[in-house]
Amino acid sequence: MLDFEFYNPTKIVFGRNTVAKLSQLVPTTARVLILYGGASAQKTGTLDEVKAALGAREVHEFAGIEPNPSYETLMQAVAQVRRDKIDFLLAVGGGSVIDGTKFVAAAAGFDGEPWDIAVKRGANVTSSLPFGAVLTLPATGSEMNNGGVVTRKSLQAKLAFHSPLLYPQFSILDPSKTFTLPPRQIANGVVDAFVHTMEQYLTYPVQAQVQDRFAEGLLLSLIETGPRVLAEPTDYDARANLMWIATLALNGLIGAGVPQDWTTHMIGHELTAQYDIDHARTLAIVLPSLMSVRRQGKRAKLLQYAERVWHITEGSEDARIDLAIQRTRDFFESVGIKTRLSDYQLGQAAVETVLEQLSKHGMTRLGEQRDVTLDVSRTILEGAL
Ligand code: NZQ
Ligand code: ZN
Repeated sequence: MLDFEFYNPTKIVFGRNTVAKLSQLVPTTARVLILYGGASAQKTGTLDEVKAALGAREVHEFAGIEPNPSYETLMQAVAQVRRDKIDFLLAVGGGSVIDGTKFVAAAAGFDGEPWDIAVKRGANVTSSLPFGAVLTLPATGSEMNNGGVVTRKSLQAKLAFHSPLLYPQFSILDPSKTFTLPPRQIANGVVDAFVHTMEQYLTYPVQAQVQDRFAEGLLLSLIETGPRVLAEPTDYDARANLMWIATLALNGLIGAGVPQDWTTHMIGHELTAQYDIDHARTLAIVLPSLMSVRRQGKRAKLLQYAERVWHITEGSEDARIDLAIQRTRDFFESVGIKTRLSDYQLGQAAVETVLEQLSKHGMTRLGEQRDVTLDVSRTILEGAL
């Protein structure tokens, strides 16, 4: 097992009617800014519930954080924070709103041009406003980790940042808040959580027994629960399982002490920045091809994945790997997510564009062995056509 430090200070408050607990979680003297997305938080009534729970506190609002939150929008929130002397941020929404809130928290007191936070991947964050979250979409894990992803539209750049200062103080996870999600967002959440688990699991063996078993448990649970949430949209327990699985898939636990490979995400971010494809959909395009292209370096874990997740035990090694890749692709397709660039009307020209952007963003040595050069990324993208 690799050496590691593990620290996660986010308090999780999970279950029905937990939004009311905001009354105890947010300091009574706080000047609060509630940040949310388009219309869902208002339409579903969650925003009203949040405001009721905050009671007599001084509450301001910032609406309009879009999916794949933009620097341009978030800088308006930063201006509001500075103007209204806000001292506590509360995100109400999915990963985009929580990520956006993290950026605002770091940017509000930042000395210099805040886009630099994204350019330096968060290494230059020296202070943050305290913040909490009310999660309405299980997918990203942002509710219990210290990362975010921000897009600068004018540059078509989508960059991830991390900082130990950017864990939410608390996150409220009420699965019943996800009943209003359209099937498309449920499917996105299932695939995003699946790929988060894979990026921390499908590398090379380091004798990390419990991390492997935990990751396999999350994958098996997603294969069981994802279709159930879609087929039985009023099933609370299915929602509860999906929500907790997605959080555990990216809260640091399964990634501690193991190699990690974030290639699929890095290529996926470029696809979203260029072509506005939903985050999870870009991952479903890249991962199956990556598994095939990198089968040498990942052979032992691919065979373990085939056996323990898909119960594939017969045939040659390559036949077992091919079948595991096919099962993975079929699973994504079964929840309604297409897995080929051509399904999104993209061809060779998109491959060239994404490669240029990867080069511009320094993504030239990706993967757990740092051997995913631009040439390898090309093979992966061409395999996804
Ligand atoms: O904007 P509103 O009207 O609120 O609608 C949202 C949005 O259109 C809607 N929605 C959210 N909760 C709802 C709801 N609709 C009905 N009922 C509800 N309860 O869903 C749409 C998508 O929301 P968004 O927050 O964009 O989705 P998601 O949670 O998938 O977040 C995606 C973003 O997270 C980043 C992605 O790159 C992307 O920008 N990621 C963040 C990570 C992290 N911080 O660790 C890791 C991930 O890999 C990912 O990269
Ligand atoms: Zn993701």
